[in-house]
Amino acid sequence: VLAGVGHVGRAFLSLLQEKVETLSSRYGLDLCLRAVLKSDGGFISRSGLGIDRICEIASGPINASPDWNPGLTVEAALGRIPPGVLVECTPSNIKTGEPGLSHIRSALDNGWHVATANKGPLVVDLKRLRERAQKNHLALKFSGAAAAALPALDVGRYSLAGTEIQAIEGILNGTTNYMLTKMGQGVDYAEALRDAQAMGIAEHDPSLDVEGWDTAVKLMLISNVVLGLDISLSDIKVSGITKVSRATLVETKKEGQAVKLLGRIRRDQGDFQAEVAPTAIDRRHALFHVDGAEKGITFLTDTMGAVTVIGGKSDPRGAAAALLKDILNIYTSNL
Ligand SMILES: NC(=O)c1ccc[n+]([C@@H]2O[C@H](COP(=O)([O-])OP(=O)(O)OC[C@H]3O[C@@H](n4cnc5c(N)ncnc54)[C@H](OP(=O)(O)O)[C@@H]3O)[C@@H](O)[C@H]2O)c1
Repeated sequence: VLAGVGHVGRAFLSLLQEKVETLSSRYGLDLCLRAVLKSDGGFISRSGLGIDRICEIASGPINASPDWNPGLTVEAALGRIPPGVLVECTPSNIKTGEPGLSHIRSALDNGWHVATANKGPLVVDLKRLRERAQKNHLALKFSGAAAAALPALDVGRYSLAGTEIQAIEGILNGTTNYMLTKMGQGVDYAEALRDAQAMGIAEHDPSLDVEGWDTAVKLMLISNVVLGLDISLSDIKVSGITKVSRATLVETKKEGQAVKLLGRIRRDQGDFQAEVAPTAIDRRHALFHVDGAEKGITFLTDTMGAVTVIGGKSDPRGAAAALLKDILNIYTSNL
């Protein structure tokens, strides 16, 4: 079931269309789409919706189709079809978590796994949602909400298993990294923001990106999963890029440095200190060359040294690909 047919939901539909045969031949996984919902209704079929047909409809005014069920909600759809995975792509509201929070609770209470790109419900209720999933032997996956195509959660959780991680630092927001790179080349703030919005990479409400909250949310999610903490947004000192001037960036560049919006958490005498702030780094830093909409993350470990992952598309298609990866991992029992 797909909830939300905006930038990410539509990208997910086309990815499904593109990959459905490979998923079957390579992984033995026959994915079937049974419901697709927007805020005002949706499509539903117990036997499965034709993916090609839905993609065709989704490229136009979706609710004008004769098969459209006005007023159909995600909760109602989940109750009418056999459980599978809820793919949550509704807007992120980091204050209330809604509407995604109710969708995810309803899914986990009714036997559905969840793969979400929506950060809101995780900011508001991560600990209890994870407990609910565990109690019901279901997966709650959220790569799409935590740096998406940059595999931060999976690397931290699986590839670094058994290490003690002393610090994590990352460029976790493609929009601000793109803007800082452009401003370092002499473009002004407003134009850089407009470009990021035109590329579809900025959040619906860009203040979440530029004021550092999107980075803080991702840092919170990664820290809680990878370091096993239970921090909330209020535990992170947050400053964004709104006060960073083009002149400072150009000047810093001349001095061989680059300003990046870094999310950082480090062990400090048994406790952890977390912050998000624009930070000047030089070329010896592993994230120095992470430019444009690229992201990157470094884990400082006791036994494997510093491990850095760089890249991953910062756009709806990258987020959709992260959702698809989570679904595959759910069905290959990688809970
Ligand atoms: N854009 C990105 O690159 C990106 C990357 C990673 C994560 N994310 C996250 O992914 C999520 C989706 O982002 P987006 O850019 O695709 O947002 P978007 O373009 O605003 O699309 C949101 C979709 O959710 C639907 N919706 C709203 N309330 C709903 C409800 N109660 N029930 C069912 N559907 C509902 C909307 O329906 P209507 O059209 O009827 O309003 C719309 O189809 C967000 O949480 C965002 O933070 C986005």
